[in-house]
Amino acid sequence: MREVPDFPQPGVLFRDINPVLADPAALRVLVDALAATADPVPDVVLALEARGFLLGAAVAYSLGLGVVPVRKAGKLPEVAHRVDYALEYGTATFELPAGVLRPGQRVLVVDDVLATGGTVEAACELVERAGCSVSGVSVVFEIGALGGRERLVGRKVSALLGV
Ligand code: PRP
Repeated sequence: MREVPDFPQPGVLFRDINPVLADPAALRVLVDALAATADPVPDVVLALEARGFLLGAAVAYSLGLGVVPVRKAGKLPEVAHRVDYALEYGTATFELPAGVLRPGQRVLVVDDVLATGGTVEAACELVERAGCSVSGVSVVFEIGALGGRERLVGRKVSALLGV
């Protein structure tokens, strides 16, 4: 994974997963390992914009499940639920598309990086507002010093790699 200092703003060390995604062997290892964290297997995968889309869709395919994208604000024609959240370098809004999650479904949340946990926490809130439950949170990389896991206490959080 490539480290890019001072992106997207000074003082932030950006973890760039793109070289890993571009490597066929690495991509396979990552997707297989993320899929293996899904125990028990959920009903559906929730993939977080943007890099979570790539991983979440692959994990869902690998598990024989469908995938639901959580989008940044303003991209969806019909929104089921909306949550504002803060992350390491700013604020954002997540939206859950209408008419895709069914109440009672067990949902695996997939993203690339867990940093402050604001992004995943917002996604979990969307899942629960939809009447579903979060079966687990699976990420490739965890930046432990930023406290995301503590913010998600009580949830099953799986990270393949971390600092
Ligand atoms: C990055 C990363 C995670 C999130 C983690 O996404 O891909 O989704 O930050 O940060 P947190 O744990 O502090 O919330 P970003 O918001 O930069 O959006 P992008 O994937 O659309 O570029």
